[in-house]
Parts: sequence; C-alpha cells; structure tokens
Amino acid sequence: MKSKARPATGRLLYAQSGGVTAVINATAAGVIQNARAHGIKVYAARNGILGALREELIDTGKETTAAIDALRHTPGGAFGSCRYKLKSVDTHRAEYERLIDVLRAHDIRWFLYNGGNDSADTALKISQLGKSMGYDIRCIGVPKTVDNDLAVTDCCPGFGSVAKYTAVSTLEASLDVASMADTSTKVFILEVMGRHAGWIAAASGLAGEGADAPPHIILFPERVFDEAAFLAKVKATVERVGWCTVVASEGILNAEGQFLAEAGTRDAFGHAQLGGVAPVLAALVKEKLGYKYHWALPDYLQRSARHMASKTDAEQAYAVGKAAVDYALAGMNAVMPVIVRTSDAPYRWKIEPAALDKIANREKKMPTSFLTRDGFGITAAARRYLSPLIQGEAPLPYGRDGLPKYVQLKNVAVSKRLPAFEH
Ligand code: F6P
Repeated sequence: MKSKARPATGRLLYAQSGGVTAVINATAAGVIQNARAHGIKVYAARNGILGALREELIDTGKETTAAIDALRHTPGGAFGSCRYKLKSVDTHRAEYERLIDVLRAHDIRWFLYNGGNDSADTALKISQLGKSMGYDIRCIGVPKTVDNDLAVTDCCPGFGSVAKYTAVSTLEASLDVASMADTSTKVFILEVMGRHAGWIAAASGLAGEGADAPPHIILFPERVFDEAAFLAKVKATVERVGWCTVVASEGILNAEGQFLAEAGTRDAFGHAQLGGVAPVLAALVKEKLGYKYHWALPDYLQRSARHMASKTDAEQAYAVGKAAVDYALAGMNAVMPVIVRTSDAPYRWKIEPAALDKIANREKKMPTSFLTRDGFGITAAARRYLSPLIQGEAPLPYGRDGLPKYVQLKNVAVSKRLPAFEH
C-alpha cells in the first residue's frame, strides 16, 4: 500500500473481469479520461486477464473523446471480460512470467483490474509477482459486481443499478398480478442473481413497505429454504391479499446445503452455474397449493439494464475508475478504491484506498440485522442501507430509431511484440 515515486514513463493497462454490469464501462471512462488528463496512454486487455496473457491489447488512444464519453452510458464490457483464474505461482510460474513479459514488452507500469473478489485476488497476485520478479508494476483492483459482496467497500459499483431494476420490476409486475388475481395468476415469482449473498433479492424489498405490499416473500441465500414455512406464507398471503409476489435469490440452499437451482456446470473459479430456482418454486406452489403462477428469470437483463440504472451507481462507478488512476499515479500498489458511506440521510459517500489483501477472495453477506425475524423480508436498517443506492435516474440518449445510442468502440489492436503463448 506504500506510495513510491511515479515511474518516469510507461503505459497503463486496464482490464475488465467477471460478470459485467450496466455501469462497468462508466468505470472504464473514469480510468481513460483521468489517465488522458495526466497524459498517460491507456491500453485495455481484450477479454480481461486473458488478453494480457495472449498479448491481445487494445489501444484506447485510437478512440475519440466522444466515444470514451459514451462509455458512461453503455452497458456490457467494452473491451470484453472473462472468468479465468490464475493458478498458483508455484505450479504455474510460466503463466506469471508470461504476464510480466507482456507488461515489460509494452512498458506497462500500472495495471488496473476491474472486477469482484476473485479479480482482487488476481490483481494482488500480479502485484506480488511483480515484486518477486523485479518488475516495477503497480496494481490497483477496481471494484465491480452486481452481487454487492465485496468486503470493506460500503457497496459495489453495478449493484445500485441492478437493485433499482429489481425494485422497479417487482413493483411493476406486482401491479400486473394484482389486477388479474381474482380470475387468473395468484403467485408471481421473480428470480434474481447473487450467488451466495442476498443483496439483490433484498433490494426488491424497496418495492413496497408493510405486510400487504409486494414483495410478500423474499428468499435469501443467507437462510436455509424451509419449504413448509414458505408454502404457509404463500397461502396466508393469497388468502389475505388475494395474490402473492415472491422474490428468490438464485443462490437459495436446501437443508442439505445444496443449491435449489444448480445447473450442473462450473466456471474456472469452481463456481456452480445457477439459474432456475423460480420454476422449481412455481412447481411447488402449483403442486401443493394449486395456485396459478407466472415466474420470471431476468438473468442477464438485470445486470445489463442501463435504461434503469441508478444515478448514484453510475456516479460511483465513474468515481472508482478515476480514483484508481490517481492511486496508481501516486505510486500505490495492491489497493482498491472503495466507497465509504459518511451519512445515510442525506446520503454522502467518499472514496478511499483499501488494501487488496483485505478484499481478495472474501464475500460479504447480508448482516442478520437486515433480515426480518421470519427470514422472508428486510428490516428498516436494510432499507436505510439500500434506499440511497437506487436514487436518481441516469438518462440515456436515444436515437431516431427509438433505441439507446450505445457506443461500439473500434478496439484497435496493439501490434504484438512477443511470440504466441500456450496456456
Ligand atoms: O458476476 C456475478 C454474477 O452476475 C452472479 O450473480 C451470477 O451468478 C453470475 O455472475 C453469472 O455468471 P456468468 O455470466 O459467468 O454465467
């Protein structure tokens, strides 16, 4: 974390990692615009760390000012992202040496890795590797994840927007269900992301307040799924309110600790691919209670919904990118710009550096104080935390075709200087 003098020359490498968000490109804009203001050339790695290994680098200097500015409102990952885990230095030294060779060949002195807790681990490993291999490289982890599960930071860029999408969708779909419940659908189930932590599911609770307001039931991965209690609450809600909205996290577990919705595949980090808990719950409701249902799995729609982004989130995403460049140029190493909340109402926040080893490979779950006693709802404390994060709209420019004007970068490749590498 110690500051050293800034190397006299060099380029900055920025890479996106893991699941993308509605605002990760706002972070890219923060990085590139701040680096340009300091006269630093920015390369981006194509498809995250894989681009660095394969020497597939992009010269962002070929993009216009307007194109970089348009990243602020364009979802997806403009340079490509990946799920790729660097293995241990002891067993895969060649992979690390290759990374250093690529960084050295292109005179890259600052590496900014934009991702979640796995990516913080990768950035940390590269910073350690640089030291042990005698190459002067400063690594900064830049926070991003819709799951909101990074340690230390108060919230994660990407989360506020998915939270807003989830709260708004819960409200809108509930108005639909309520209008036809007398003769048609009685139960609506929305499945949301958030592997092991229920932050996105919790955000649906902002749609309404009070026992009869939707969502009537939220299912969190922090609580073991209790089938009998769930069915009893669905039945009681339908009998009292006339209909019932359920929001379920994709990561809910049964008493045996198994995901209700595991698809059977795993990614490079060993994470199970999830998705499909809503139809499991819907079938249960139909079989045991006989109610007509609909269910929805917004999946990638929720994390790409830039049209429903939170202004707070978009601003924070930009700010962490900008701060990451400041930290890098100040000579900091193995740190992440994190969001510190200084006040709930009015909501105030600032950015501070935090050591990557306090963040890498850790997962922040919902605190017990944020869940109601029956485990099916959120408390006032959770509302106080969540509400500011969905505040404000971040409007998009629309074209004559009625579609948002998203930017497609040229992504001009930097000439390779090294032989190909098999990994
Ligand atoms: O990045 C987080 C996340 O969006 C999770 O909530 C979700 O389970 C996962 O990514 C999906 O990952 P992938 O897009 O690699 O299948």
